[in-house]
Amino acid sequence: MKVLSVQSRRNVKRKNIKKIKRNANIRNVITFCGLIIIVIIISILIGFVSMYLGFNLKLYNTLIVSKEKVIEFKPFIYNFKIWNKSLNYIKENEIELVLKKENISISIAYDKVPSYLNYNIVVDKQISSRDEFKGLKTIYIDLSNEMNRSTITNLSLDLKEKYFDNDYVDIYEHNTKTNQITLLKSRVSIKEGNINLSVYDKNKNDEENKRNYIIVYVPLVNIELSKDYIELKNSCIDKIGVKYIPENATNKVLKYTIQEDSVEVTEDFNIIAKKVGEYLLRVGIENENVEKEIKVKILEIANSIETNVDSVTLKVGNETTINAKILPETAVNNQLEWKSSNEKVAKVDQNGKVKGIAYGNCEIEIKTKEEPIISKKISVKVELKQNTSVVNNTYSNELPSQPTYIQGILIVNKKYGLPSNYNPGVNATALSAFNTMQAAAKNEGISLFIVSGFRSYSTQLGLYNRYVRQYGQAATDTFSAKAGHSEHQTGLAFDVNSVLDSFAQTKEGKWLAGNCYKYGFIIRYPENKQAITGYKYEPWHIRYLGVDIATKVYQSGLCLEEYLGI
Ligand code: DAL
Ligand code: ZN
Repeated sequence: MKVLSVQSRRNVKRKNIKKIKRNANIRNVITFCGLIIIVIIISILIGFVSMYLGFNLKLYNTLIVSKEKVIEFKPFIYNFKIWNKSLNYIKENEIELVLKKENISISIAYDKVPSYLNYNIVVDKQISSRDEFKGLKTIYIDLSNEMNRSTITNLSLDLKEKYFDNDYVDIYEHNTKTNQITLLKSRVSIKEGNINLSVYDKNKNDEENKRNYIIVYVPLVNIELSKDYIELKNSCIDKIGVKYIPENATNKVLKYTIQEDSVEVTEDFNIIAKKVGEYLLRVGIENENVEKEIKVKILEIANSIETNVDSVTLKVGNETTINAKILPETAVNNQLEWKSSNEKVAKVDQNGKVKGIAYGNCEIEIKTKEEPIISKKISVKVELKQNTSVVNNTYSNELPSQPTYIQGILIVNKKYGLPSNYNPGVNATALSAFNTMQAAAKNEGISLFIVSGFRSYSTQLGLYNRYVRQYGQAATDTFSAKAGHSEHQTGLAFDVNSVLDSFAQTKEGKWLAGNCYKYGFIIRYPENKQAITGYKYEPWHIRYLGVDIATKVYQSGLCLEEYLGI
């Protein structure tokens, strides 16, 4: 029994312990559940507070300037989107953003607006100070919400005071479907305190038209100028480089002051000099206490060239000097440059010394070496030496025993004759060149043919004598050569198509004058050169010289005697 009673006491004890333990478990469970409920309630409260704070703090965007390389964002439970400072989309829903550069600016905007919060878009943003507006930086309007799209047609900044003279904003459009941000309007003036923003399309069913509008205002706070001193010639232009700080400022408007009429400053900061003198240009920013100074020195420039003569007449081989000076004498561009329009007629050196080279007219241009360029032209007439025309126009008494070559060119005129027995026949090279020219002309619908080519001494003798009997010697000597003095005796000359003066006006005559040099020929007796060649204008008479010399003679505008200086 004793044993039994001991055993039964033990059983009673065990039962009591079990009961106590069960009670303790129930209490623990209740405590545990209570704790969980408290944690859940606290979490929900924290969530709401965070969400609320999140919207209030960042809903209208925040421009973040950071020197950190890594920024942690807490997006709470809503999406957000990030753009860099040029408003290029970066990413969304990331906790950690690694910035590539230090000191980068980024904009953040929440994208989703839960309807139960009864979110009200800021259309009448009350701004009581300029600083507040500056702090705002970016206004983000979510128009993806149907209600908003149907009600908002413009953004009005209700401005109580005139803080915004000369302020500008940029307006971007955010396509919520593609996440593309594009600049809609740049430099939109908010001078009147209003920004009118027409909503593109209010069709709620059109996904494409679910667009948001972002108004960005980045105030200009400072500038750096590329120079603080400029020296320029009057009426010239210099450019000042301007670095805007920050560079993405939307109101890049500068104001400047300088003595009236001294310079003109264009919108992109070109300085146009107007008046000689030294000035101070002050450049500032509207509404900011910033002012930079640039010293501007405007130098005198030439306004005319004074010469002792306006025209010059001199003979071949003679020299004369033109005196020229720049006015006003204090001009900085006071160096002159001299140039002849035709060095085959007259040359000029850099001291104004003119030398007559060949019979004809040209111009000497005198101009300033440096900008701004001003110039003056002096007409030059070069006359033949007293006896040149007489010599070329007068037959030599006797025929030579050899043909005359000057600078490698066989020359025949009234002064230089040919031996009477010089009888080479037509020159094969010249004839071949004519045939080539004839074919080329034919391709252009021009028909050329030789009416008179090689003529022997005796043929020319008969011809000349017949003309003398018919017209008398004086008249004959203006169009026909004495025997021994005709170029036709060289075999290098051809009369083409017609020996009538009217040939010059035909299309064949014009083609021949403008093209024969390309095949090695010149019009040997040009218009107005009778005093030198000794013969009237013969538009039909061509002389073979080879392409190189014929081209040079053609381009010189001189007749052969002038070109050779004989
Ligand atoms: N008609 C030219 C001048 C001559 O007779 O040669
Ligand atoms: Zn002829």
